[in-house]
Amino acid sequence: MIKIEGLKKSYAGRPVLQGIDLTVEPGEFLVVLGPSGAGKSTLLRCINGLVQPDAGRTLIDGKVFDTKSKARGEQPVAMIFQHHNLVKRLSVLKNVLVGRMAGLSSILTMLQLFPKRDVEIAMEALARVELPHKANSRGDQLSGGEQQRVGIARALAQQPAVILCDEPVASLDPKTSRIVLGYLKAICKEKGIAVICNLHQVDYAVEFGERIVGLSGGKVVFDDTPDHLTAEIVHQIYPGLEDPGIGRVLKPRAAARQPILAPLVATATA
Ligand SMILES: Nc1ncnc2c1ncn2[C@@H]1O[C@H](COP(=O)(O)OP(=O)(O)OP(=O)(O)O)[C@@H](O)[C@H]1O
Ligand SMILES: [Mg+2]
Repeated sequence: MIKIEGLKKSYAGRPVLQGIDLTVEPGEFLVVLGPSGAGKSTLLRCINGLVQPDAGRTLIDGKVFDTKSKARGEQPVAMIFQHHNLVKRLSVLKNVLVGRMAGLSSILTMLQLFPKRDVEIAMEALARVELPHKANSRGDQLSGGEQQRVGIARALAQQPAVILCDEPVASLDPKTSRIVLGYLKAICKEKGIAVICNLHQVDYAVEFGERIVGLSGGKVVFDDTPDHLTAEIVHQIYPGLEDPGIGRVLKPRAAARQPILAPLVATATA
């Protein structure tokens, strides 16, 4: 279980996170929505031990995880980025093996010598995203969607308690985005790995998220299941957003509760 308690972070005196409390269960697929600058990436960086919060802490299975844990090489948190972050000149398999490096001595890492068991784990992870046949291809010989699937395999090979995803489909087309999010969600469920996924797209959040957290101004302004996400709440999360398409993706029950939706839906379906 991931427990985030009272996280606060400011940059140059400007508060970015203003006290975030969240508990995420193993196998839960949580989507974080929020406008640019809301603090989504900062939240993930604090959870991942890349940034030390000014206050608060993250507990993973009851144990504090922070920048010091990360420096010690503890790896309960895997990260997936928008731009895949594969090493282009390395093979796909070696890119996935990066997820196993924490347990290796620096000399083995330098020589790129990996124990047989690690290679097996990496190949299993590649098979899970249906890319075992690409194991020997160079990272830059894959399409964007395939590269992101390798990113998922690398995270999976790390055998983490939680996978953090920062806009994992922002640079992919809609069909590929759904494929990538589909793999992520299936893996989350099968392996009981908690996933915290920052997204900009409300429609994907509703389609894939089991729970949605809306972040605005560094605070949680919504924390519930997608069927409780209304147009009014979406407008609260994204102040000033003029996107009539939002009404389309919300469930009728949620829409019906909010009269504000009526003109939006009318515009969207006109
Ligand atoms: N290392 C840093 N130094 C100074 N300011 C920072 C730093 N990292 C983030 N910020 C600021 O914190 C705020 C939140 O940034 P963050 O990247 O967390 O937003 P975000 O919600 O991920 O936005 P986006 O959707 O555009 O990725 C921004 O105003 C940003 O400029
Ligand atoms: Mg961001």
